[in-house]
Amino acid sequence: MSVFRSSAHALITGGASGVGYSVAQLCLKHSMRVSIVDFNQSSLDIAGKSLKGEVRLIKADVSSRQDWASIREQVGTDVDFLMLNAGIGGRGTWGDEDYFDKILATNLGGVVNGLNAYVPSFKERDGKGPSAIVITGSKQGITNPPGNAAYNASKAAVKTLAEHLSYDLKDTSIGVHLLVPGWTFTGLSGNTPGSEKAKPEGAWSADQVANYMYAKMQDKKFYIICPDDQVTEETDKKRMLWSVGDIVNERPPLTRWRDEYKEEAEKWMKEQKV
Ligand SMILES: NC(=O)c1ccc[n+]([C@@H]2O[C@H](COP(=O)([O-])OP(=O)(O)OC[C@H]3O[C@@H](n4cnc5c(N)ncnc54)[C@H](O)[C@@H]3O)[C@@H](O)[C@H]2O)c1
Repeated sequence: MSVFRSSAHALITGGASGVGYSVAQLCLKHSMRVSIVDFNQSSLDIAGKSLKGEVRLIKADVSSRQDWASIREQVGTDVDFLMLNAGIGGRGTWGDEDYFDKILATNLGGVVNGLNAYVPSFKERDGKGPSAIVITGSKQGITNPPGNAAYNASKAAVKTLAEHLSYDLKDTSIGVHLLVPGWTFTGLSGNTPGSEKAKPEGAWSADQVANYMYAKMQDKKFYIICPDDQVTEETDKKRMLWSVGDIVNERPPLTRWRDEYKEEAEKWMKEQKV
């Protein structure tokens, strides 16, 4: 039996747009009850009109503990599938406190708050049917490309949290998964709900990510690293191996993007077998 089953209850943060919205649709296709948490009212309104099935829409900010207390009151604790997915992008640099505060509060704080609000009840309900917790990370939290330190740090941190949670719950029937979308055409990349933009070549749709996640969850995979139409699974594996090679080989960090290492990195990627 899978967590995707009739009358099981899903709670999805950031579920009014993009990946979260597609996962909400997937859950509804399996006749699940779905609670969506999002802080964007216009996206919630659109989702309310377009999603068909048993849906509860909650306007709340995942970075607020108070809001999580209210979410628990409204949703209850009989949640079988928790997807901590709300996230923001944004640009900034050293000295820009607001940039760090905002991104870390949502992308990391939102996950910490959600786990503290729900992991205890997942543990109490263990054995009452399959359950799962998905945390949405990013390749930027693994390979750490330059240009967005706060975002990358937030996503590296949620990867660590998910890994710990997976270990801590290994003797339970609660599945834990780290979902790592590739380049996906969502609100974060200009496809806000209600806009009619065409998907750029190279990006995946949010539905593709949801379907990939579903297949990997059925296979009980913890790491769900999605390719896209530009980056293959093989390329992702090589990029991850090269990154950890910075530590193992005592190179400086982020060498894939440093002029003095670029050529070596490209050659290594061409020759490496994974
Ligand atoms: N789109 C990509 O290419 C991509 C790649 C890697 C990872 N991700 C991750 O996927 C997740 C989903 O993002 P998406 O791409 O579907 O973008 P999206 O903007 O379509 O969806 C994110 C949703 O989260 C909501 N949200 C943001 N901050 C919130 C808060 N504080 N409280 C409540 N809701 C909040 C937004 O209103 C939005 O509806 C994010 O964690 C993002 O970092 C996306």
